[in-house]
Amino acid sequence: TKTLKQLAKPTGVRVGTAVDMAALADDATYSKAVAAQFNTVTPENVMKWEVVEPERGKLDFTEADKLVAFAKAHKQKVRGHTLVWHSQVPAWLTEGVEDGSIDKKQLRKILKRHVQDEVGHFKGEIWAWDVVNEAFEDDGTGNLRDSLWLRELGPGYIADAFRWAHKADPKAILFYNDYNTEGINAKSNAVYKLVKELKSEGVPIEGYGVQGHLSTDYGLPEDMEANLHRFGKLGLKTAVTEADVRITLPASPAEVQAQDNGYSYMLQSCLLEKSCISFTVWGFTDKYSWIPGVFPGEGQANLYDENYQPKSAYEVVQRDLRLA
Ligand code: G3I
Repeated sequence: TKTLKQLAKPTGVRVGTAVDMAALADDATYSKAVAAQFNTVTPENVMKWEVVEPERGKLDFTEADKLVAFAKAHKQKVRGHTLVWHSQVPAWLTEGVEDGSIDKKQLRKILKRHVQDEVGHFKGEIWAWDVVNEAFEDDGTGNLRDSLWLRELGPGYIADAFRWAHKADPKAILFYNDYNTEGINAKSNAVYKLVKELKSEGVPIEGYGVQGHLSTDYGLPEDMEANLHRFGKLGLKTAVTEADVRITLPASPAEVQAQDNGYSYMLQSCLLEKSCISFTVWGFTDKYSWIPGVFPGEGQANLYDENYQPKSAYEVVQRDLRLA
């Protein structure tokens, strides 16, 4: 039986997974599966700011470098994740803003230097960067998220980040990435409006990533293929960047079926839309998943179970790749 990456090859869409670096180091079954099944990888945490600059001015790319080396050894592309986000910002930075020792002017310089440092460090090694992550509110207003970046720097931080990243690595594909924006809805409409503006101003934004964190307690996103298509028409690449479909446990057969439908719907939307270049799952085994920690009582969101047995969702992904 063929692996996911073998099945994906003729489709032109890459299949990826988020990688947990502790599991990659300690669990041989895990690392073998990452190498065998996927042709793109995303660091689940180790390229985030709090990890790469734990102390001000002390850069630490040790773990991220390991992933880049692993990817190179297995001919995989790397999705860099993520440069500008409201979460997992180093403590020295948030504290400095709070106590007034970092003012707005300095903060902008610090952000610029962070983007330059990180993109520069990996220049030529990263296929696509999630430059700005989750910048919009989730409340249907279409407003930008009330983050440190918006409060201190104003909305211009988004365009700035793309310009700085492009300068540091002109070949990397620069993505805006967000959740609950898979289908056409108020939030994705707001992202669309912003991206259109940025494009018309010549800002080097080149990709639109939809995360794809679904739950069987909610319906499927509406018109996902059409949503990707409208961003494609703006000249952007698109991608599904963090797919998983969680279930309230214990899982009933109907919920498992709904999970399979969720994976199939997202993958097919990508396979049918020519701007879509990759389909990445946010972890591939239920053995390691962020879900139970954040949504107590929910889980089993991935393609393999905790013992690395492929689930029906895995078979559905195989089938859809074969059909494409
Ligand atoms: O590394 C520390 C460890 O030293 C410490 O002992 C331990 C105690 O809590 O925490 C560890 O850090 C955790 C980190 O994952 C690494 O395991 C953080 O607490 C935990 O908050 C962090 O969670 C990550 C989360 O982003 C942070 O917001 C998840 O693993 C990761 O899957 C999740 O990924 C995000 C994407 O980046 C963006 N989109 C949504 C997605 C899911 O939330």
